[in-house]
Amino acid sequence: GKVRAPTHIICTISDDRGEEPTYGGVTMSELMEGDANVGDAIGLLWFKRRLPRYATKFVEMCVVLCADHGPCVSGAHNTIVTSRAGKDLISCLVSGLLTIGPRFGGAIDDAARYFKQACDAGQDADEFVEALKQKGVRVPGIGHRIKSKDNRDKRVELLQRYARKHFPSTRYLDYAITVEEYTLQKAANLVLNVDGCIGALFLDLLSSVGMFSPAEVQEVVDIGYLNGLFVLARSIGLIGHALDQKRLQQPLFRYPWDEVLYTK
Ligand code: ACO
Ligand code: LMR
Repeated sequence: GKVRAPTHIICTISDDRGEEPTYGGVTMSELMEGDANVGDAIGLLWFKRRLPRYATKFVEMCVVLCADHGPCVSGAHNTIVTSRAGKDLISCLVSGLLTIGPRFGGAIDDAARYFKQACDAGQDADEFVEALKQKGVRVPGIGHRIKSKDNRDKRVELLQRYARKHFPSTRYLDYAITVEEYTLQKAANLVLNVDGCIGALFLDLLSSVGMFSPAEVQEVVDIGYLNGLFVLARSIGLIGHALDQKRLQQPLFRYPWDEVLYTK
């Protein structure tokens, strides 16, 4: 029989060997004829399937809505400082991306994990929140530095509105909202934030599209696909900030002394 040398790597998502490249077996021509968007590319390359239109549109909405949130947030700040230090575009981008984590933009996977476990177990919101508090864990997907009960996050509103109109079910979002109702009784800034909203809605999307088995949904949650959405989206804004500083020929950044509390 044929003797096959062992391969160095395995790839199951794309192929560049034929006349035209494919994503998940779909040719570039088919993608272009079908008016494919970023959601289609993510569907094929991350989730390894063609997502229905309402789902790819939702993915695109997440990317557009999370692309930037002004210059003051952690990521943009780092990118701006790096750009002003004269560094190249990729260094500026990466220095901003490195701030994405459990407090900033990188709470989507944990929000999905915690909401899924609690909702599937039928745990009441108050029990869920109090159990995390006992462990000293902040509820991922809840809380914001500037958004609050009376100053809602428009992005969260827009995503919810779309899901209620187009998703077959919003079971996990509904659960996350019961959590928010409870945390808002504690403090006005403990709103469902954009990470939490995307985490809950992705659970709804994957569970209701009818293409993901419960085990596959669990795999997405366990591996942690969803922070990638924020990383992808925010890269757009971070690149914008890096270029903005260069265009404005901003000098090296240095904090004024009176912005620092020097103390022993
Ligand atoms: N769950 C439970 N309690 C919370 C939460 C939470 N998610 N967030 C804040 N609190 C409590 C704190 O324990 C604190 O109470 P304490 O002083 O008695 O300990 C009080 O609220 C105020 O906390 P602060 O640290 O002042 O809140 P801050 O406004 O700085 O935090 C943050 C904002 C970092 C987003 C926080 O709410 C948090 O860690 N949330 C969970 C992580 C998360 O979802 N991050 C994504 C944010 S959206 C984005 O980045 C795109
Ligand atoms: C963001 O999208 O960057 C934020 O929600 C975080 C913030 O503090 O505004």
